Amino acid sequence: MNRLIAILPLMMLLAALTITTTASTTSAEETRIARMDQNKGKMMKPMPIRTEAITDMKMLDESSLELWSDTKLGKSGKSCASCHPDGMLLSKRAYPRYIKMTGDILTLDQMINFCMKNPMKAKPLKWNSKEMTTLAHYVTMHSKPSTKSP
Ligand code: HEC
Repeated sequence: MNRLIAILPLMMLLAALTITTTASTTSAEETRIARMDQNKGKMMKPMPIRTEAITDMKMLDESSLELWSDTKLGKSGKSCASCHPDGMLLSKRAYPRYIKMTGDILTLDQMINFCMKNPMKAKPLKWNSKEMTTLAHYVTMHSKPSTKSP
């Protein structure tokens, strides 16, 4: 009996602690849900990739044919089509991958900029430019299945 009386305050303390912890968990959960709601508001207005979005695939098809043959892209007087007519030398293997000519593992956009800087003697295209999307579209549409192992 005496022992029980001695333990009683300890048990009360434990109970009090449990209640406090549970209460604070609930409020943390509430904060988390409130934050998620705030984020949801932000998600509905994402930062755009560029001020003028590209939405017309048919127009992208047409402009990619045009840009592929544009000799004014760089200072070499060449166009992408000079060396890659109808997708010549472009293989369908997935990026990023090692491309011997560059000695590097590159994404498609980086490979496009390699050819812009080197054979084309051009400024690299901006990551979010319409031109980058347009040339990447051409590569995707006109590359050929590779006979080489990946
Ligand atoms: C003077 C010739 C030349 C010009 C101009 C040129 N390229 Fe290339 N390009 C090459 C060569 C050579 C390769 C390497 C091919 C290989 O190693 O299989 C290559 C490789 C590539 C590859 C990777 C092909 C693959 O599947 O491995 C892409 C993509 C590419 N070029 C895009 C372009 C784009 C876009 C332009 C125009 C902005 C362009 N090239 C202009 C010569 C050229």
